[in-house]
Amino acid sequence: MARLSILASFLFAGLSATRYIVPGGRWHDTDGNLVSAHAGSVTVDKTGKFWLFGEYKVEGQTEGGGVSVYSSDDLATWESHGLALAPVKGHPYISPSNIIQRPKVVYSKISNEYHMWWHADNSSYGLLLQGFARSPNISGPYTFVSATAPLGNWSQDFGLFTDYKDGRSCALYSNGDSKEGRDVYLTSYNEDTTALDMVIHRFDKYDLEAPTIVQTDKSYYALMSHKTGYRPNNVVAFRADSMAGPWSQPFMVAPLNTRTFNSQSGFTLTIRGRKKTTYLYLGDQWDSNSLWESRYIWLPMQIDDAKKTLDLVWNDVYDLDVESGDWWPVRGQAYYAADARVAGGAFKQEANFASKGTVVAGIYGNDSTVTFEGVEGAGKPQWVSFYYQNTDDMGFGDQPGGTPDRIGGAWQLRRIASVVVNGKAEEVETLFQRDTHKGIVLSTPLLLTLEKGRRNTITVGGLWNGFDYKGADWAGQG
Ligand SMILES: *[C@@H]1O[C@H](CO)[C@@H](O)[C@H](O)[C@H]1NC(C)=O
Ligand SMILES: *[C@@H]1O[C@H](CO)[C@@H](O)[C@H](O)[C@H]1NC(C)=O
Ligand SMILES: *[C@@H]1O[C@H](CO)[C@@H](O)[C@H](O)[C@H]1NC(C)=O
Ligand SMILES: *[C@@H]1O[C@H](CO)[C@@H](O)[C@H](O)[C@H]1NC(C)=O
Repeated sequence: MARLSILASFLFAGLSATRYIVPGGRWHDTDGNLVSAHAGSVTVDKTGKFWLFGEYKVEGQTEGGGVSVYSSDDLATWESHGLALAPVKGHPYISPSNIIQRPKVVYSKISNEYHMWWHADNSSYGLLLQGFARSPNISGPYTFVSATAPLGNWSQDFGLFTDYKDGRSCALYSNGDSKEGRDVYLTSYNEDTTALDMVIHRFDKYDLEAPTIVQTDKSYYALMSHKTGYRPNNVVAFRADSMAGPWSQPFMVAPLNTRTFNSQSGFTLTIRGRKKTTYLYLGDQWDSNSLWESRYIWLPMQIDDAKKTLDLVWNDVYDLDVESGDWWPVRGQAYYAADARVAGGAFKQEANFASKGTVVAGIYGNDSTVTFEGVEGAGKPQWVSFYYQNTDDMGFGDQPGGTPDRIGGAWQLRRIASVVVNGKAEEVETLFQRDTHKGIVLSTPLLLTLEKGRRNTITVGGLWNGFDYKGADWAGQG
């Protein structure tokens, strides 16, 4: 039986909820709306303000929503400025039926304008072009200039990197899935970033996508994901002393089987603070069943140029001081499944990979639940992390392909559990639990309001798996 196993170490992040970076949480902007800037990138303006650009997605429209823009002073509080590049009906490249993906914005000294580049395509990915738009104002509106084939080639997932040493920008792009393609190009822009001029390197036939580069004083690291659609996989990195290479063999950047903490690479941001330089990984946790609800996995990277390694550092919740460049995890109190109360068909089960060697399994429907008692609350919204294993990935269904563990398997991507605080069944929170892997425990944060003191209860149930019943439940019979 596949079951939603909850392994609960709840992690409390006390105090004000908005100042922290919370990978995988629901991020809200200052108007209270979900931050919709998927496959995003961050540009820093002259004043040090951060501008986040990304694909704008709403329920019912997955592509062609245009490019949204948000600003922030601390990378945690985001103010929406609407659409930087709005779709135009009937336009051959930026209509609502076009693909407008992975936007990047760079400042051009020559034109004193901001230049936006992205993957421009039609809905069947048959054009494989790079779009270009410009604006005198970083927040836009941007004016469409062109959609071109880079040096005559195809261009799918798009990245843009600016070398901090010489200020030169280059484009990174996978050239599609065709047999002739499957490369990733690294191509420099002209000084004005209005056109590409020269191929610097080609990552030959690795068949990777979602490229981004992070630069230290000594090295360049190019991060890319494998091609598994919206399903996360093991992101790899290559290292080199110079952009032209030679580039190293690719290597993993996160613990195996976490599928890069359930994320895809997209962008990296370097904070050169007064005290410390911090390298951030800006990844996407896609949710193919409701793309607009996809989450963001932003994590610090630990880079060791002597060992030539780069590792993402998981944190449930962390605080980053953009001025000093320092960051630190926000810690809380842990509560364990071994000590929790179970009801209905839920039961405790030995699991040597779990805290205290125990998980609670069999959490189905509304009556089979696990309740954590004596939970300390702050009396205002606080982040609570739920540690779980979700092995739906081992299932098999009627959809072809997908799971690495079963021929012809169907990978469900996530389940939805219910979370009820202090028995208030009328206020059910939904917790998205991503597929993990057998023996792999990951966490997802929820913003909850608990009463002040140590008398709270948190009850987790198997509300709804979020899929056509046949999918996940069929898997359950496996
Ligand atoms: C996209 O463009 C390609 C190449 O021109 C074309 O073959 C394909 O039919 C187009 N797809 C759509 C949906 O227009
Ligand atoms: C530039 O953008 C800012 C922020 O969205 C806005 O307040 C300002 O009016 C804009 N300026 C121009 C010239 O459009
Ligand atoms: C694009 O590049 C590939 C190799 O990466 C090459 O085989 C192909 O011919 C190029 N396509 C075009 C249209 O230039
Ligand atoms: C379970 O709870 C949800 C949310 O309260 C409700 O919509 C659903 O009908 C319940 N299911 C059963 C079987 O009681």
